[in-house]
Amino acid sequence: MPSPDLSDVVAEIAAEMAARPDRGQVATYIPELGRIDPNQFAIAVALRDGSVVCGGDCGTYFSIQSVSKVFTLTLALGLAGDRLWNRVGREPSGSRFNSIVQLEQERGIPRNPFINAGAIAVTDMILSGHQPREALGEILRLLQFLADDDGVHIDRAVAASEERTGFNNRALANFMKGFGVIENTVEYVLGVYFHHCAIAMTARQLAAAGSFLAHQGKNPATGHSVITAERARRINAIMLTCGHYDGSGEFAYRVGLPGKSGVGGGILAVVPGKASVAVWSPGLDAWGNSHLGRIALEMLTTRMGWSIF
Ligand code: DON
Repeated sequence: MPSPDLSDVVAEIAAEMAARPDRGQVATYIPELGRIDPNQFAIAVALRDGSVVCGGDCGTYFSIQSVSKVFTLTLALGLAGDRLWNRVGREPSGSRFNSIVQLEQERGIPRNPFINAGAIAVTDMILSGHQPREALGEILRLLQFLADDDGVHIDRAVAASEERTGFNNRALANFMKGFGVIENTVEYVLGVYFHHCAIAMTARQLAAAGSFLAHQGKNPATGHSVITAERARRINAIMLTCGHYDGSGEFAYRVGLPGKSGVGGGILAVVPGKASVAVWSPGLDAWGNSHLGRIALEMLTTRMGWSIF
């Protein structure tokens, strides 16, 4: 059977998602995110030739939150190489994204770079020897470079909102500092972490930015080599096993792609060799992952035959 036309599939998904009454709950623990209208949805599929097939609110900026952790991991691996894995594990946690329970049992070493504790430890490695402003600039410039778009920016209101309410993250960071896993001043590390989570992008920009992960570390549209093929493969492996926290098994079962979610309602998913996909809908499921985003990706991979399994 010939595979269906991607533009048709994307348009159908956008229409169905716009009409669905069950949209999940927006995150309220970061008050600024609680103000977002849940009736929004976007899907963007960036292809090898650089074209991006879009549906819904593809040009609307949203808070990428934990999706930023894919890019901070990419940056930190470039800086620290495999030494990074001395301070962060590579196993699924089976716990919520902001859980502290395993940290004490495992001597302050976070299970993986995508749970909050792991991402804070990764941010500490990026900060090493720099001013927070410089480290944050590095992260933002990486996203602008990957998306090939200077419109990518930091939403200061979201960062300030999380800075005021980030008590759990302060606990995680201080706990790791107590074990010697965090090297820099805790408030500096958290300042960079809160701000990189508050990066705002459109679905179109995010899909383009993830393109290197679908094409062996190289963005085929811009010709930029970002990382080695081996490293891209390994980041994809961690996205598949840990990218949706304690919902990673469910995501692999239903969608069948490496993916990374954020509490802003974004998900970046990778179709190796074919495409990079960004979806966004602010309402979340019980695991803190985009409710409609996951359903949309399940529809996309089912219709296009894009599951990696
Ligand atoms: O640290 C936090 O709690 C947020 N800045 C990011 C958490 C997040 O996106 C979890 N993902 N679904």
